[in-house]
Amino acid sequence: LAACGSDDSAGGEPDGLTMGFAQVGAESGWRTANTKSVREAAQRAGVELKFSDAQQKQENQIKAIRSYVQQRVDVIAFSPVVETGWDTVLLEAQRADIPVILTDRAIDSEDDSLYETFLGSDFVAEGRKAGEWLLQETEGEDSVAVVELEGTTGAAPAIDRHTGFTEAIAGSGVEIIASQTGDFTRSGGKQVMEAFLKAHDDIDVVYAHNDDMGLGAIEAIEAAGLTPGEDIRIITVDAVRDGMQALADGKINFIVECNPLLGDQLMDLAERVVAGEEVPKRVVVEETTFTQEEARQALPDRQY
Ligand code: AHR
Repeated sequence: LAACGSDDSAGGEPDGLTMGFAQVGAESGWRTANTKSVREAAQRAGVELKFSDAQQKQENQIKAIRSYVQQRVDVIAFSPVVETGWDTVLLEAQRADIPVILTDRAIDSEDDSLYETFLGSDFVAEGRKAGEWLLQETEGEDSVAVVELEGTTGAAPAIDRHTGFTEAIAGSGVEIIASQTGDFTRSGGKQVMEAFLKAHDDIDVVYAHNDDMGLGAIEAIEAAGLTPGEDIRIITVDAVRDGMQALADGKINFIVECNPLLGDQLMDLAERVVAGEEVPKRVVVEETTFTQEEARQALPDRQY
């Protein structure tokens, strides 16, 4: 299995349960912070963590889940790269009596018995917050041309952040004139933005589904001789340190927070599920938003 197989039990006999965790990859600052949070929380909770990095490929995640089933872990947690195509492998886990927890991203399946609970953000609400801020910000402007840097095609945050944003701007003068995936990476955001700048000379706003793609877009905008945050306003999602710094510096205009620090809640849910306790089917993470001034105030205490 590619990039798989680290075992965080780090010496000594683990006294708690064993968790197989199939991570998406290491595509963004958010993901790095999420992985760190899960690893640290597992250590604190005495959970033996079997960790795999799917390098943003669904087939790698499926292989990792199968190997956790074979190893008979107590619980499997994973953050699905894309929404669909999970039923077969999750049925295998169910038949082996191994509970599954979805973390960060949801799946699109008719059978919700395939997982115990889903811990993560409300991505539609995040997209809505981005759109609502833009409506306020551009009040009085007749037309506002937005280019959208989408996350990984088929991933829950890409689908939902688009949905929430379009809901919020419906019937207004704000219009998405182009939309393309940058795969949640900085290089993807930069490349797509370069193409957008060549194809359109009327871009008012960039809506990037994460900070990393927004930071890539900033590089492309500066290389084109324009001033990010002024000539082209930028909205992103996540609020990781690099994004917050760019917001504080005036290069980004608004960030919708997506909290990656899910580790402790995940370990708590896992322990309860394995103990046979009832847990809520959906646990939503609390999140806020940041203006430039709010970023300046929050930066000194930002953990990630
Ligand atoms: O699923 C969460 C998203 O995945 C984050 O917003 C993004 O940065 C990451 O890659």
